[in-house]
Amino acid sequence: MKRNLIYVLLVIAATSGFTNCGKKDPNSPGIEFMPDMYRSPSLEYYSVHTIDGDTLYNAKHPVKGTVARGYMPYLYGDSTAEYERAGLNLKNPLEMSKRSVYEAEGEVLYGKFCIHCHGATGAGDGKVAAKLPGPPPAYNGPLKNLPEGKIFHTLTYGKGTMGSHASQLTQEERWKLVCYVQKLQGPKDSTKTTEKTIAESKPSEPKK
Ligand code: HEC
Repeated sequence: MKRNLIYVLLVIAATSGFTNCGKKDPNSPGIEFMPDMYRSPSLEYYSVHTIDGDTLYNAKHPVKGTVARGYMPYLYGDSTAEYERAGLNLKNPLEMSKRSVYEAEGEVLYGKFCIHCHGATGAGDGKVAAKLPGPPPAYNGPLKNLPEGKIFHTLTYGKGTMGSHASQLTQEERWKLVCYVQKLQGPKDSTKTTEKTIAESKPSEPKK
């Protein structure tokens, strides 16, 4: 009898030892042997800290009205009307005396980002093209007279099953690709060119 009582007391002592840890906060680890492992003393990204009474914001929004170095705001929105407007007004800002250099650099980028869909000659026969609902049209076929502004616009926002390439390629890289796509387009078919410039059309803010 006495022995049994001792067992019961032992069991109670043992279980209360386990359950006691979590009484206040079930997620509490109990005794912390190395608190630094749980509570990092270093400053964490994207959080607010107060040090000596000063509040520090680790990630700040850019100051209003400023532009990141090397970045040019793109003044055309993501819509069909803006695509048309880009086609009429948007011109390649790169120095055209170095065109052959840009074409060569564009070709390298094309080999990494475009060839699997558009094919080596831009005929729309890349390896992935057959898997798409509709293969891309040939640059020197239906897209022969596609103006540079539309090429850039499509690279920026995407079109149909082609996604946007704005996050992978800088604006300069996209313009280099435009140079290379134009090389693949070959000389324009003058009998079909109807492009004119709408100088008075105002740029609007791109949609977020
Ligand atoms: C996932 C496959 C895919 C990739 C990758 C891709 N494209 Fe496309 N691209 C397409 C398809 C499909 C179309 C036809 C879109 C439509 O008109 O609906 C297209 C259309 C185009 C057009 C014509 C756009 C217009 O305004 O009609 C150009 C120019 C073009 N792509 C260039 C590129 C370049 C340059 C790259 C590489 C940076 C690239 N594409 C990457 C599938 C792709």
